[in-house]
Amino acid sequence: MSILIQNGRVIDPASGRDEAMDVLIEDSKIARVAKGIQANADETIDAKNKIVAPGFVDMHVHLREPGREDKENIHSGTRAAAAGGFTSVCAMPNTTPVCDTAQGLQFLASRARDNAVVNILPVAAVTVGQAGEAIVEFGDLVYYGAVAFSDDGNPIMNAEIMCRALEYTSMFNVPILDHCDNVDLSKDGQMRSGANSVRLGLKGIPPASESSQVARDIDLAQYTGGRVHICHVSVRQSVRHVANAKKSGVNVTCEATPHHLTLTDAAMEGYDANFKVNPPLGSEDDRRALIEGLRDGTIDCIATDHAPHTDMEKDNVMTEAPFGVIGLESAFPVLYTDLVLTGEIGLNLLLEKITIAPSRILNLKKGTLAEGADADIVVLDLDEEYAIDPQKFFSRSHNCPFVGKQVKGRPVATIVGGRVVFRDGQIVT
Ligand code: NCD
Repeated sequence: MSILIQNGRVIDPASGRDEAMDVLIEDSKIARVAKGIQANADETIDAKNKIVAPGFVDMHVHLREPGREDKENIHSGTRAAAAGGFTSVCAMPNTTPVCDTAQGLQFLASRARDNAVVNILPVAAVTVGQAGEAIVEFGDLVYYGAVAFSDDGNPIMNAEIMCRALEYTSMFNVPILDHCDNVDLSKDGQMRSGANSVRLGLKGIPPASESSQVARDIDLAQYTGGRVHICHVSVRQSVRHVANAKKSGVNVTCEATPHHLTLTDAAMEGYDANFKVNPPLGSEDDRRALIEGLRDGTIDCIATDHAPHTDMEKDNVMTEAPFGVIGLESAFPVLYTDLVLTGEIGLNLLLEKITIAPSRILNLKKGTLAEGADADIVVLDLDEEYAIDPQKFFSRSHNCPFVGKQVKGRPVATIVGGRVVFRDGQIVT
């Protein structure tokens, strides 16, 4: 099976390539990237006036299977990923049961074989049941395919447990994806603390509940030699801690989400729980710090933290609604519209942060258009203009904070392992 993508603007941040070229896919690999390729391909995609880039890699996705298939499952979540241009997604382990054993990973792999249209990279829990009390069998879980470990959804409050986890995982060179939140400080909070939380009468979560834990875990990574990756960084003080740690040579990386990069706590104004997320949306100053961090390299990558919840759960009073927003199908258009078209960052930097950067953190041979690499590719139309409508999403859930937002840019074709899985708004199976 061969596919020829012709006449596109090929952007490959891994190599710095950005020019009009053709891409030839043979079987599951990228065979050639060159001008004017003559080939008798089985399928041709005309990418004139379009961008051809490596398929996006999302380090932080909640697929909810097993246990909460009413919110999302592997079938719907990977279709949402493909429609959003993502060809590989990390599946977070805060499912029911928690993915903390080889059997859990085998279950995920078998469901992925039958139902997934993109690559699923399993993340296993750091502690048994994500209860924060006993560490898992790291070696076993790496053997069965875990690419990273995380108790995401819960912080690891016990510093000794975190220390042990960093020591063990350092033996396998895999990162701990760290959900930083001191629950003693954030308990019962609904949004970021500040003038808006006082005015709205919603209990605030102080920025230090995140940043104090970031500082602790950077120190523990330095002490143990382990690799810590800070999830969904949301406040300026956390960005400062990561920047200083990187300067001192600590093995730390971090991600920011599309919602923290484009929204602030002012969005809570309408008491709509579709803006309730963990960590909470921050101030404009925090948002500026995240954008500066993207530019200067402190923030390594962008991850969606796609966290589906049902309409019934979100159509509720703020104190009852769960934390989390979906992101797979809105990430690229929102980031392109609010960060690239506004001149905050360049298109090439945005693509780097969602392709090669997360691949490097996870030691994956993904996120590149190098010849011989897996043919995971996205074709983007940057001119298409439309309003975001979660009712049209492939995701089972609608808890999107960008409803009705006017955006530009849309994936028009997504190719995974040399197979077109999404084309012109439709999943191809
Ligand atoms: C996530 C979820 O719903 O699983 N929610 C969220 O607000 N981000 C868990 C988490 O990352 O806290």
